[in-house]
Amino acid sequence: IRSDRESMFIVNAWAQQYFSQMLHEHVEGKTVGMRYFIERGFREETIRKFQLGYSLDQRDALYQQAIRKGYKKEYLEKTGLVIAYENGNVNDRFRGRVIFPVHSLSGKVVAFGGRVLKKDEKTAKYVNSPESPIYHKSNELYGIYFAKQAIVKADRCYLVEGYTDVISMHQSGVENVVASSGTALTHGQIRLIHRFTNNITVLYDGDAAGIKAAIRGIDLLLDEGMNVKVVLLPDGEDPDSFARSHTATEFAEFIRQHETDFIRFKTKLLLADAGNDPVKRAALIGDIIRTISIVPDDITRTIYIRECSAMMEIDEQVVLNQVNKLRLSKN
Ligand code: CTP
Ligand code: MN
Ligand code: MN
Ligand code: MN
Ligand code: MN
Repeated sequence: IRSDRESMFIVNAWAQQYFSQMLHEHVEGKTVGMRYFIERGFREETIRKFQLGYSLDQRDALYQQAIRKGYKKEYLEKTGLVIAYENGNVNDRFRGRVIFPVHSLSGKVVAFGGRVLKKDEKTAKYVNSPESPIYHKSNELYGIYFAKQAIVKADRCYLVEGYTDVISMHQSGVENVVASSGTALTHGQIRLIHRFTNNITVLYDGDAAGIKAAIRGIDLLLDEGMNVKVVLLPDGEDPDSFARSHTATEFAEFIRQHETDFIRFKTKLLLADAGNDPVKRAALIGDIIRTISIVPDDITRTIYIRECSAMMEIDEQVVLNQVNKLRLSKN
């Protein structure tokens, strides 16, 4: 007897094939979905590798085909491929969207993301599979299956925000990249990366939201004992747009020149933000001291204390005392 989980994996594997077939063979998929990907600059081999697809703009095209093929409504509903209403109606969740399958570490399709073709005010840009017995969003990272070997080889992982960032970076030759998919980074996701490397470079969008998200995620990364660097992209760019407007060499050079150690990044940013306001400065100093106190390695922590006290123009001994006090109170 098959478990529920196994049945859900089987349904997802079929749906992935179905969405790909619609993209490559159906007239609507070819003219609407494929045109969208090509216009974004995705190459045929990239589209195949990431198993991208298209969901027809019909109420229940996938549902009808699935039932014809013998798949059960129960599992179509549990995986979130369809939405069943109390009145008996069943709708495809992703209709009229291009499809990004989300693969687990071992390469199984655990979820899908669907993007609208034209962004307007009323429709959400992305619709994603709901949480399910086979999809716990907080334990998955988009792209990890395609990135794991490259992460080991480079001994570094790039962390980006979105599906298209991962795909465009792969296409320009950077394969050690995963996406947090626009949500706050979790311990589970960090542990997944930590299995392959200690070194992570956060490459979030160059807008206010991106900077905020970068700063929020990073205390977690430090807590996990990772070495964290940050690259801030030019305002208004994300890794996808940047990769498309630059050669692979220019991208690599930009990263090399702008890669900043996280604590230095945070200190600089907060200092600039606070200006000469003494109340703000005191608050930011407290914030930075808290971040430093999370760093598990003694030597690394000592180096940070020295550097950041210089940047904040505060006596090193004072910072050291505060850090030690915080560490004592935590244990
Ligand atoms: N996201 C989401 N739902 C939304 C908006 C965003 O799930 N309504 C997630 C997606 O995984 C998306 C990521 O957050 O890839 C980053 O969001 P954003 O930067 O807005 O999108 P991009 O990935 O840049 O997508 P695009 O280039 O297609 O606009
Ligand atoms: Mn480690
Ligand atoms: Mn963004
Ligand atoms: Mn983006
Ligand atoms: Mn984008």
